Amino acid sequence: MSAPTVPPFTEWMRRIQERTESALDRILPAANIAPTRLHEAMRYAVLGGGKRVRALLVHAAGELVAAAPTRLDAGASAVELIHAYSLVHDDMPCMDNDVLRRGKPTVHVEYDEATALLVGDALQTLAFQALADPPGDAAGGQIELIRLLASASGSRGMAGGQAIDIAAVGQHMSREALEFMHVHKTGALIRAAALIGVRSGASSSTDTSDTFERVDHYARRVGLLFQVVDDILDAEADTATLGKTAGKDAEHDKPTYVSLLGLADARRFAEGLLADAHAALAPLDKSSVRLLELADYIAHRAF
Ligand code: IPE
Ligand code: IPE
Ligand code: MG
Ligand code: MG
Ligand code: MG
Repeated sequence: MSAPTVPPFTEWMRRIQERTESALDRILPAANIAPTRLHEAMRYAVLGGGKRVRALLVHAAGELVAAAPTRLDAGASAVELIHAYSLVHDDMPCMDNDVLRRGKPTVHVEYDEATALLVGDALQTLAFQALADPPGDAAGGQIELIRLLASASGSRGMAGGQAIDIAAVGQHMSREALEFMHVHKTGALIRAAALIGVRSGASSSTDTSDTFERVDHYARRVGLLFQVVDDILDAEADTATLGKTAGKDAEHDKPTYVSLLGLADARRFAEGLLADAHAALAPLDKSSVRLLELADYIAHRAF
């Protein structure tokens, strides 16, 4: 009998993206439930767009420990809800003042600023509800997952990184300070996605703790890598490909890896982070292949 064939990465990615879309659709209140305008705007912000990289990380890390797919759906949805909230607020006039996101008008443009603020608030709490009330057979160990997501999202994580980002406009930043900002505003949630995936597995053997440490190391590198590539794409790609306005970092005088190092060195730094991420998982078996492929995708993506 021949070994079962593993689907190629693109097929796996499409499958996880589709099941994440369905899970989010189930979790989000229907648009005809009052308050209808808020619910419609929440669905507008979350559904029908985005690469779902954080959901892919939850599933890829979860597959490493044979976690139940429905449990991973809950974690993937929670992380994507926090991410969507962060984008809605990031685009508001008081922050990056962007009018285009995922190829559509941003939430404050399509609706209004007060709605955008409330969409973010409501998506954030819905994320924790998704973790607290996972579907059917998925319960157990939820507090640890909630803790991981809370610490990655708050002032010691994403929100803290965003505060630094806003204060840094027009300022020169040292390389250390830039890394600190990127690790917080973007890296923390990416790391949490991978850790939620591994922690969604059942076992807590010594073997699992070594796996956890390795995935943590991988996820820290990939989290920073993600934002370095975002900086590069902002400078290099066009608006149609990105689905968000290109060239905004330079226009707003934001410190980025491109402004600090230049494009060529930023690209070299990204390749070094990718190599570190691969090295962290080298001792693991074949089940880490999705995490490796995902790191390659994050490093070499077009948008
Ligand atoms: C954009 O994130 C914001 C950053 C943290 C750099 P993504 O590039 O993952 O955005 P979507 O979800 O695919 O739209
Ligand atoms: C966003 O960083 C980080 C968040 C926490 C949302 P950016 O401001 O660079 O993200 P984009 O380029 O608008 O997607
Ligand atoms: Mg920003
Ligand atoms: Mg922005
Ligand atoms: Mg950016």
